Amino acid sequence: DMGGHDTYMHKEISEQADAVDRVLRGRIDDRFSTVHLGGLNLDAREARGVRRVKILGCGTSYHAGLIGAQLIEELARIPADAEPASEFRYRNPVVDPDTLYVAVSQSGETYDVLAAVQELKRKGARVLGVVNVVGSAIARETDGGVYVHAGPEVCVVSTKCFTNTVVSFALLALHLGRIRDLSVADGKRIIEGLRKLPAQISEILATEDDIAKLAQEYAGAGSMMFIGRVRGYPVALEASLKLKEISYIHAEAYPASELKHGPLALIEPALPTVAIVPDDELLEKNRAALEEIKARSGPILAVAHAPQEKADHTIVVPKNETELDSILMGIPLQLLAYHTALALGRDIDKPRNLAKSVTVE
Ligand code: M6R
Repeated sequence: DMGGHDTYMHKEISEQADAVDRVLRGRIDDRFSTVHLGGLNLDAREARGVRRVKILGCGTSYHAGLIGAQLIEELARIPADAEPASEFRYRNPVVDPDTLYVAVSQSGETYDVLAAVQELKRKGARVLGVVNVVGSAIARETDGGVYVHAGPEVCVVSTKCFTNTVVSFALLALHLGRIRDLSVADGKRIIEGLRKLPAQISEILATEDDIAKLAQEYAGAGSMMFIGRVRGYPVALEASLKLKEISYIHAEAYPASELKHGPLALIEPALPTVAIVPDDELLEKNRAALEEIKARSGPILAVAHAPQEKADHTIVVPKNETELDSILMGIPLQLLAYHTALALGRDIDKPRNLAKSVTVE
């Protein structure tokens, strides 16, 4: 049942305020400015003993894991990184007893992720899951974890699960942070930020008509470039994947800082760039990248907290706490991909060559 929407993708994009509300519900502990994650199965002593966090997932879940790693480093100050599960399991990884491994999967059935979990368990590692589907294979095989509570996602491309997975990582990071060195004041600040998310998501979704108009403008592009820096880079990766999957427009994502090391050669009037420009400590650096692109007559669409002078268009999103900004910046770009694919007459819920869950190698 699409509930009045033309596609599941549109329905699922539209459900994100409720979905985020659900992932937060019952988990916030105002007394200690932290969160309770009932199924984590990691006590405070064990949490303090974690020396590294390694996050494994595929596709969109890998991108959510990249943001998760940044959140864990920022809030809990534990070195963290994410890697495609498919790469990890084929490279005879060093498995370290002080590393906490986290497997991320919407379906909980992705074979490459499951195989990585099984290999890690076999070698005695502690593995948590960040999973949407309750009781799925990965949920069963991990030692504990966080359910993403996005509700069923039918469209082959992931939208609301991405957002809820990132919020789940924010909860995990806050929890680990408050057991370690995150202050009460910072814990409180992050909780306030999390509580603002559902209303801010609704604000973004209300601008859909404007985004649809922009999509008309970009639907003719043969290729698109997505750039971001630090918190913005995984957002660029995910937005580029979304566009590729449903519109079949070629897209690349680069850290804005890498432009001058090669991809700047591609910039010309026929290659639009979507730039993620949060109002954070890197704002001036990002603006300099926009200038570089403008100087080569590259069209620019910015996603930012205020209109950007060098951009042809800016999608303005509401500001949250800096650590949480990446959660919101991807949402208008889901709509951009959607309306671009719609303008091109694509089969949005069932893109060619793709399956909802990849249960084979
Ligand atoms: O169910 P999972 O999260 O494990 O799926 C992982 C990927 O196959 C999935 O995210 C894929 O990239 C989607 N088509 C993204 O829209």
